[in-house]
Amino acid sequence: MSRRLAAARPLLAILALLGAYPASAEPRTSPAEECALCHGLDGIARSADVPHLAAQNELYMYNQMLAFRSGKRPHKEMRYMARSISLAEAQALSAYYASLPR
Ligand code: HEC
Repeated sequence: MSRRLAAARPLLAILALLGAYPASAEPRTSPAEECALCHGLDGIARSADVPHLAAQNELYMYNQMLAFRSGKRPHKEMRYMARSISLAEAQALSAYYASLPR
């Protein structure tokens, strides 16, 4: 990463919180693909110890992700995942899973 980009990082982080800019300028797997490893791209989990997210309530899921981030709802993997995405991404993912059929 260039020096100038590095210097712009704190600003980018703030913009990301406002939902105006992606959290990282570097290419990476999309959050939806990372979540899909456990929750399925269709929101149907393949593993018995992972909840289905398809057709779940949007605001409920968003609130759960905030709770995972803060540690209020303790869970190792979800805490890590919830911390690796921006609030705008959490919102978009909640809307995405809520829109899927069960
Ligand atoms: C390593 C597997 C794994 C990955 C990757 C993962 N999750 Fe989860 N997720 C879980 C498990 C397991 C739970 C249940 C947590 C518990 O028991 O409290 C969960 C719970 C949740 C819940 C709460 C569901 C409910 O019914 O309360 C939401 C919302 C959620 N995950 C969203 C996501 C999103 C969005 C991503 C991607 C950014 C993601 N998860 C990535 C395993 C994963």
